[in-house]
Amino acid sequence: MWVVGDRINGGRSLTSFEHAFAFRDAGFIVHDARIFKKRNTPLMRRHAYTNCYEFMFVFTKGLPSTFNPLRSPSVRSGTAQVPYLKGPDGFNRKTERSLSEHKVRTNIWSYAVGKNGTTSDMYAFKHPAMFPENLARDHILSWSNPGDLVFDPMCGAGTTCKMAKATGRRWLGVDVSSEYTSIAKLRLEETEEVTLSSLPSRPDPFDEPVASRESSASNEEVGLEEPISPCRWCGNEIPATRSQLTGGRAVTCSPECSDFNRRRRRAALRAANCTEQKGKT
Ligand SMILES: C[S@@+](CC[C@H](N)C(=O)[O-])C[C@H]1O[C@@H](n2cnc3c(N)ncnc32)[C@H](O)[C@@H]1O
Repeated sequence: MWVVGDRINGGRSLTSFEHAFAFRDAGFIVHDARIFKKRNTPLMRRHAYTNCYEFMFVFTKGLPSTFNPLRSPSVRSGTAQVPYLKGPDGFNRKTERSLSEHKVRTNIWSYAVGKNGTTSDMYAFKHPAMFPENLARDHILSWSNPGDLVFDPMCGAGTTCKMAKATGRRWLGVDVSSEYTSIAKLRLEETEEVTLSSLPSRPDPFDEPVASRESSASNEEVGLEEPISPCRWCGNEIPATRSQLTGGRAVTCSPECSDFNRRRRRAALRAANCTEQKGKT
């Protein structure tokens, strides 16, 4: 499972696609290209729609050995008249059937991000790019069984390991930064071990208990990490530090951008004036 987003700076970097091709060239099958939709995304671009997703690629070597499909509540449940037989007269006969209360999820999953959305371990936010815990949990439930080993080779603040421990899996995490691994260790110490005997061998239909609560929460309730605003000239995302300097209000992404666009605007004004003058004479 590889979660990756594009950098957006004067256009999309398409890093996500490059990574997918690199994994495929290395011999993996792209079993699925899924979407991680962020529920609470501030307006980030002036000349494009706000980006609200990253990719979640599932790379395999053959069929995955485990797949426990997670389920969500169906919009339609209870009983309904459903067609069951088309007679020679061309009419569908209908019968009353009870509809399932849950259905297998689609490959678009959405999660709240930021404080209390990603995690409630506030000290872990020293790491700038954590997964939402629920995202890690849902993948672990989907692709592994209790007792399996979950390995995260770039574990950062230990979200995957924490959720592996919380769901009765064994875990192994590696990160290049000792600052991040010490956060991970602390989070793991605070996570209660789940005994295998207390877990079902396959997860029950999962009805997103946290997600449904989050969906009604506003950005402020779920707590964005910091205010981010688009550059007033080009609309690109402004680095958080620069945005914070002005309390998240409109600033420009760089002095160059500001100068370039100011010159462009003056030239456009001059051209407009000129046309107006010509029209008068
Ligand atoms: C997007 S973060 C992962 C965050 C993690 N999923 C979490 O929720 O905390 C990527 C991590 O990869 C680590 N990293 C980058 N290059 C690495 C490398 N060559 N070997 C191991 N870890 C690396 C970074 O230190 C960073 O913590």
